[in-house]
Amino acid sequence: MRVIIYKTKHGATRKVGKILSHYLNDCLLMNINDIDYPTLQKAESIIVGTPVYYGKLDQDIISFIQNNQDLLIARHYCLYVVGILQSEFMTYVTNAFDFQILKNIKVIAGLGGALYYPDLAISEKMILQVMNKRSPVIRKQKNKDLFENFNDEEIKIFAQKIKHLT
Ligand SMILES: Cc1cc2nc3c(=O)[nH]c(=O)nc-3n(C[C@H](O)[C@H](O)[C@H](O)COP(=O)(O)O)c2cc1C
Repeated sequence: MRVIIYKTKHGATRKVGKILSHYLNDCLLMNINDIDYPTLQKAESIIVGTPVYYGKLDQDIISFIQNNQDLLIARHYCLYVVGILQSEFMTYVTNAFDFQILKNIKVIAGLGGALYYPDLAISEKMILQVMNKRSPVIRKQKNKDLFENFNDEEIKIFAQKIKHLT
């Protein structure tokens, strides 16, 4: 059995986890807030998903990875990053982890992100406007609440690589 551990604020990292689960013929999705260690011990492989906010991977995910190295390494763990600046994902990853951790992650992928405008606070929208001036990725369509730039091709490739691990 494969387990996908994720953290999410607005749902996108879970959604990508579900798509991945579909490509991998069913994984167990586990929110990092409800971690069940006995189940993780039984898993054959573990995939960890993190969102990006303000140029950083999620701190709970970083700590989980740092504090559970033995458990994770034995289960060929992989990492996916959910953020709308897809081309930046490796910068976020290398800022979060040193080489001792990075060298044991079997596959790392940046899979794009999503924004659901009705969910965002005014302050979040303002930050996004500034971000978008620097790296224009958001093309908000009129009358659309959702912006999504998940990279389906990358999700497929990520799933394929995970399949080849075991
Ligand atoms: C306030 C704010 C800051 C963000 N900062 C970044 C960022 O620095 N880099 C990036 O790639 N995406 C950034 N994003 C986009 C999120 O990573 C994206 O919305 C992601 O899908 C969120 O995942 P979640 O719904 O699972 O929480 C930001 C989004 C918000 C609302």
